[in-house]
Amino acid sequence: MRYDSITEAIGDTPLVRIDPAVHGLRNIDLYAKLEMLNPFGSVKDRAAWHMTRDRLAVATERGDTIVELSSGNTAKALAAIAGMHGLPFRSVTNRMRIPEIKDLLLLLGAEIEELPGQAECLDPTNTDDPLTRIHRMLSTAETGYLHTDQYYSALNTEAHLTGTGPEILRDLDGRAPDHFIACVGTAGSSTGVATALRERDPGVDVLGLVAHKSDFIPGIRTIDELHEVGLFDPAGYDGIEAVTADEAIDGMLTLIRRCGLLAGPTGGGAYYGAVRHLRRFDAESTERRTAVFIVCDRVESYLSYIRRRRPELFNQPPRANSAADLATAEVAAATVVDVERARKWIAAERPLVVDLRGPFAYAALHIEGSINIVDQLFEELLHGGLPFGRQQPVLLACPVGEQSQRYAALLTRMGHRDARSLAGGIIGWRDAGAPLVSD
Ligand SMILES: Cc1ncc(COP(=O)(O)O)c(C=O)c1O
Repeated sequence: MRYDSITEAIGDTPLVRIDPAVHGLRNIDLYAKLEMLNPFGSVKDRAAWHMTRDRLAVATERGDTIVELSSGNTAKALAAIAGMHGLPFRSVTNRMRIPEIKDLLLLLGAEIEELPGQAECLDPTNTDDPLTRIHRMLSTAETGYLHTDQYYSALNTEAHLTGTGPEILRDLDGRAPDHFIACVGTAGSSTGVATALRERDPGVDVLGLVAHKSDFIPGIRTIDELHEVGLFDPAGYDGIEAVTADEAIDGMLTLIRRCGLLAGPTGGGAYYGAVRHLRRFDAESTERRTAVFIVCDRVESYLSYIRRRRPELFNQPPRANSAADLATAEVAAATVVDVERARKWIAAERPLVVDLRGPFAYAALHIEGSINIVDQLFEELLHGGLPFGRQQPVLLACPVGEQSQRYAALLTRMGHRDARSLAGGIIGWRDAGAPLVSD
């Protein structure tokens, strides 16, 4: 294999059968499409290259900056491609939550522009999702940018329609698999592959996997967030199911420890979701079936993410108090106060008001006298370092009141005397006409 450019090594990834002794399906052959073996490390190499290749000559002539809304794999691939062509790359995001990926992007020479707003919730100072807002801003700029536009560009899907999908068909001797399972971020890979497979056999069963509503799995969206994605068309899937971060990590551990596949969390999520889905067909199947799932990227970038959730895997004591292991009943039992009662409580007892939103949203508008501790940092501080004692009454506020309720439950479990959550969050407070101040 001899190449003139590393971009020629994008694609043609292996399709590897998972040992039936590992997945336990008796009538189904399950294959992993190893997109993690692309040269920049993920399934997004294909989309990044396909979205840029025909535009690079003009961009180089004009000295454009490549720009994309990405905090992960697309940014990584685009930064590498930009560097190869002497162009700057700017990543615009509101969810740069994986430190290793941020460091890698900086190493690749990327500029990172972090926007206000939470990944999961709208910024209350804005009625638009920040991604959508920036998307519009960039689309109207005349020159200076090569905007690859992964959430809307048909080229993203086409990379998989012409590459990933046909490769799967070729490696299965021209036959489409009965089932195809993929995690959904921009929906480019799942839509493109599904379209190629269904052109061969319209009966292919397509399952899309998203992160469970209260969970963060880097690279993919929750069902609510999916509706913001221009390429996502629910009609293209026979089903959409959720996997939790814990299930994704369990699946990942199976791939790593039993199959020699050094997959990241979404590869694990795809495996876990695939086996769960396929068990239903396995029981009633009389003839052999074939299924394919995508392993999007490798594990190394997610070590700190995994350590936070499973310290015991790294020979560290398990975390006694973590928002992830709260029972639903425990969360439901947390003290929640509506805006009117919160205002009276603040006036009478002066609880410490802790705003869990991002610093930009906080700076723009917040409850007077509140302090700002971003939710991820709050979770860290819970394990030694909260700037208030157990006797201090605390009112927690997040964008819409969900995360704050979990933390109120956790503080209560940890012995805090009076921890309450603001119902409806800062958005509810604003909608009730209660006063907000800015810095
Ligand atoms: C780790 C990871 N897994 C899965 C996906 C989903 O791929 P797609 O954007 O094609 O839906 C992405 C996309 O960024 C990703 O980074």
